[in-house]
Amino acid sequence: MRKILLIFVTIAFCSCKKSNTNYQTSDAMNNITVDTSIERKIDSLLKIMTLEEKVGQMNQYNGFWDATGPVPKKGNQAEKYEDLKKGLVGSMLNVRGVKQVKALQKIAVEETRLGIPLIFGFDVIHGFKTIAPIPLAESASWDLEIIEKSAKNAAEEAAAAGLNWTFAPMIDIYRDARWGRVMEGGGEDPYLGAKIAVARVHGFQGDDLSSSKTIAACAKHFAAYGFIESGREYNTVDIGTSTLYNTVFPPFKEVADAGVKTFMNAFNELNGIPATADTFLQREILKKDWNFKGFVISDWGSIGELVSHGYAKDLKKAAELAVKAGSDMDMESSAYVEELVSLVEEGTVDEKLLDDAVRRILRVKYELGLFEDPYRYCNEQNEQEVTGKKQFHEDALDIAKKSIVLLKNENDLLPIKKQGVKVAIIGALANDKTSPLGNWRLAAKEGTAISVVEGFQKYDGNSVNYAKGADLVIPNTEISMVQEVQVNTTDTSEFGEALSLAKKSDVVVMVLGEHGMQSGEARSRSTIDLPGVQQQLLEEVYKVNKNIVLVLMNGRPLAFPWAKEHVPAIVEAWQLGVESGNAIAQVLYGDYNPSGKLPMTFPKSLGQVPLYYNHKNTGRPVRDGNVFWSHYSDETNEPLYPFGYGLSYTQFSYDNLNVNVVGENEVQVSVKITNTGKVKGKEVAQLYIHDEYASVTRPIRELKGFELIELEPRESKTIEFKLTEKELGFYNNKGEFLVEPGKFNVFVGGDSKADLTNTFTLK
Ligand code: NOJ
Repeated sequence: MRKILLIFVTIAFCSCKKSNTNYQTSDAMNNITVDTSIERKIDSLLKIMTLEEKVGQMNQYNGFWDATGPVPKKGNQAEKYEDLKKGLVGSMLNVRGVKQVKALQKIAVEETRLGIPLIFGFDVIHGFKTIAPIPLAESASWDLEIIEKSAKNAAEEAAAAGLNWTFAPMIDIYRDARWGRVMEGGGEDPYLGAKIAVARVHGFQGDDLSSSKTIAACAKHFAAYGFIESGREYNTVDIGTSTLYNTVFPPFKEVADAGVKTFMNAFNELNGIPATADTFLQREILKKDWNFKGFVISDWGSIGELVSHGYAKDLKKAAELAVKAGSDMDMESSAYVEELVSLVEEGTVDEKLLDDAVRRILRVKYELGLFEDPYRYCNEQNEQEVTGKKQFHEDALDIAKKSIVLLKNENDLLPIKKQGVKVAIIGALANDKTSPLGNWRLAAKEGTAISVVEGFQKYDGNSVNYAKGADLVIPNTEISMVQEVQVNTTDTSEFGEALSLAKKSDVVVMVLGEHGMQSGEARSRSTIDLPGVQQQLLEEVYKVNKNIVLVLMNGRPLAFPWAKEHVPAIVEAWQLGVESGNAIAQVLYGDYNPSGKLPMTFPKSLGQVPLYYNHKNTGRPVRDGNVFWSHYSDETNEPLYPFGYGLSYTQFSYDNLNVNVVGENEVQVSVKITNTGKVKGKEVAQLYIHDEYASVTRPIRELKGFELIELEPRESKTIEFKLTEKELGFYNNKGEFLVEPGKFNVFVGGDSKADLTNTFTLK
């Protein structure tokens, strides 16, 4: 009897799908036999799925172009089409554009037995076609509203191109500037990182995932990828419980609580277990403790890489370990599609694990509205109207300006007067229309950024002349996402022209830093100096004109102690996206008063790395007579610029710091901030605490609150912070969350070195 019923359900489901591509009907059919809730629909679907079809849902293939990892195992287009038709593919990545998405979706919906729609994923990291500042830059704004808006715009533009899912945000915490992927995240601090992570997830997913303007987000990389040894890409991670719970987990936990739909695991091993096969991370922490209901995708090929890690003897074992550990979808290893069916048939893997993975994947597809209308995101007219919308550019400009960090401004060299000044602009990056787009911009067109030279040309009161000075990259070498960048380390033949221009100018704007493809995945560097001959160029120009404004374009903290000592004005301009040049010019001319603060510590030299503000005190933190204290013989412990640092064209003072314990584990802090300068400005007021003694040692400072405020000249404002258990507690080495009694110090100010302080005691 059951069998007959099953056959009936199968026929009903399939024939409905074949005869009518509008899923309303098939849903209606489902409604007859099952409950209307998504779970019940999934129940009935699971009942009629073959083992192969279940495995198919757990398989993701790259499209037929634009690999964002090693060349796929199944590179062959024909093979992939065949698998698609057989229902052996649940998702595709890197396919984009309504036409392409629709064509593949049509195969899934109309040619497979069950017609389950595909979910299309893409790395929408900082904009889709309209490129916004790199995530590290946006994080420097500390402006959660605009960060959320940036993700929202990116989602709308990507959704209009047929996409349903972004592999973002990257919410790894990291402390090593050598790692190329620092450009992709929220910086070194778990508190700030978690706030930014949640803002980005909200931005991508909105309140209604089924809207054709929102896409599913993906919290990545779970976990501890930001702690790879020596900053070398894909390297090993070995960290203790305290760092894992107190530093790595917080942003992941917050976005799980905020309803992020997917997680991506990581390439790295963590304490001997590759994250992709880590049951503790994926099943214990994520799915059990945090009650995560979405699905986990592997990273590109990371299931197959279990073999290279020395954790699985072959692909079959890798598939077994990954699925048992809770990796629900296989990105480009072909491990699941090749091995899972036999693993289940021979009894090595329980089919229930597949059911759980498929349920999670289908749940997200349902929530995206793909079952209701698989072509929901496929409207060509909408794609045309939405792509590159004016509003996206306006918002990209807004966030670009807010991302800029003013590091030094001696004798008010900035802002530059708008009339009668002879301005020289020097540096290859000043005229570069691609580098400001940064890495992770696969869908964008090369050369679409406004360059610094173009930004300056919009102001016509000054004479503005440009000289390159030197190439950053060896001319005519190929530059792409899959190629190493060949930096010019020898050719200084064009210095002369730049020097004579500098000589006859009043101000020299030098735009130096990294090529856009020098950071990002697989872009670790073993030095963090200005690449190539740029330092030499800077020093030569300085000899003929000291009025230099150094504009840095980079995807990671760089070490530039010489510039800090000599150059009067320094502006950190990251890679600011399409509106880069406009944003920089507006800040340099004073039409926008900079308010950005560093989300990562800038070291003085590579030898200090990893350098981060929330470090431990050690047993010998200060010099006590002789050499036996925690220090370097040839460098101080101080950073070049501390975490949270950034100037404005005005100044702020902090006073009246009041701290009151108002309840059990509840503390109120208030502080008065005054704009003591001459122009209106914004300030990110930051609150740090230090728990003096604890059963597990605590960092010397921890950010526990911040507020972005705007003040007119001479205006004051009192702001309040509330500290609760969440801010006052920590995880011990058993992973238990504790709030311990004792004395705490509070520091409030404009950066992590803030010296206005007070104390409170928890009973
Ligand atoms: C590998 C990267 O680690 C991951 O972040 C990205 O989403 C995938 N490739 C897909 O491009």
